[in-house]
Amino acid sequence: MKHLLTLEQLSKEELLDILNLADQLKFQKKNGIAHEILKGKTLGMIFQKSSTRTRVSFEVGMHELGGQALFLSSRDLQIGRGEPVQDTARVLSRYLDGIMIRTFDQEEVEDLAKYGSIPVINALTDYCHPCQVLADLMTIREFKGAFEGLKCCYIGDGNNMANSIIVGVLKLGMTMAIACPKGYEPDKHILEFAKAYGDKFIITEDPKVAALDADVLFTDVWASMGQESEKAIREAVFKGVYQINDEIMALAKPDCMVQHCLPAHREEEITAKVFEEHADEIFEEAENRLHAQKAVLVKLMA
Ligand code: CP
Ligand code: NVA
Repeated sequence: MKHLLTLEQLSKEELLDILNLADQLKFQKKNGIAHEILKGKTLGMIFQKSSTRTRVSFEVGMHELGGQALFLSSRDLQIGRGEPVQDTARVLSRYLDGIMIRTFDQEEVEDLAKYGSIPVINALTDYCHPCQVLADLMTIREFKGAFEGLKCCYIGDGNNMANSIIVGVLKLGMTMAIACPKGYEPDKHILEFAKAYGDKFIITEDPKVAALDADVLFTDVWASMGQESEKAIREAVFKGVYQINDEIMALAKPDCMVQHCLPAHREEEITAKVFEEHADEIFEEAENRLHAQKAVLVKLMA
């Protein structure tokens, strides 16, 4: 594993390796066992979009691993004024040991990896959000004990989160059901990927069909970063149907857990009631960003 650009590029073994290491690093942190595996190493963090969790967890993660992280806002970098990613990649490769990037186009992340000579980590693009889904998978195993036999369900926009959830869930042998409105389906590459999993992948417009007997329910915002101008149109499409609420919870298994990458919009994709009833799982998921990403950093940069 040279980079983390998408989850498609990881084998099941590589995925499990990261999750096992993440569990170990979480244990070490909780028990005060030092793990300065990346002493002297520097991670550059390029942000073209806002972030709370990703920025803080990567920065703290590098610190706990004995290294350091540099926050590089695209507003301040020359990349924001049009310097090509090819040149940025070759320059930063000479200073840093790894680059984390959050941006719009997946191609920009791929180019950074192609033209640079250091590991690149995708910290969210319009296409996918692999770091988040590693944390989600870690949380599922923490709460459920194992992946085998579980049914995961995602209700909402077929966005970056949906794309990565589908890949991660199917790779680990679980069943994946997704409910999204017509015209808001996951990326065509993801639908092609999922085809190989036969009846382990279900796609429908009806959240009630998807949620039936689910062990894990996921949702995400109706309008992602960069789609602010579509907010009203999207609200009209999603409102009242594509929401995790009591009615949906009643269709899922009684011990069904809820995952939300956050930030959450209460009373839009999830009711405040369901959100608060499942806050333990959702905030453990947020915490696990730190542990899962530390595992990725170690795998790529040690
Ligand atoms: N879930 C997530 O990536 O959060 P941030 O946008 O705050 O980083
Ligand atoms: N789909 C959301 C995820 C935020 C973490 C977005 O891209 O804005």
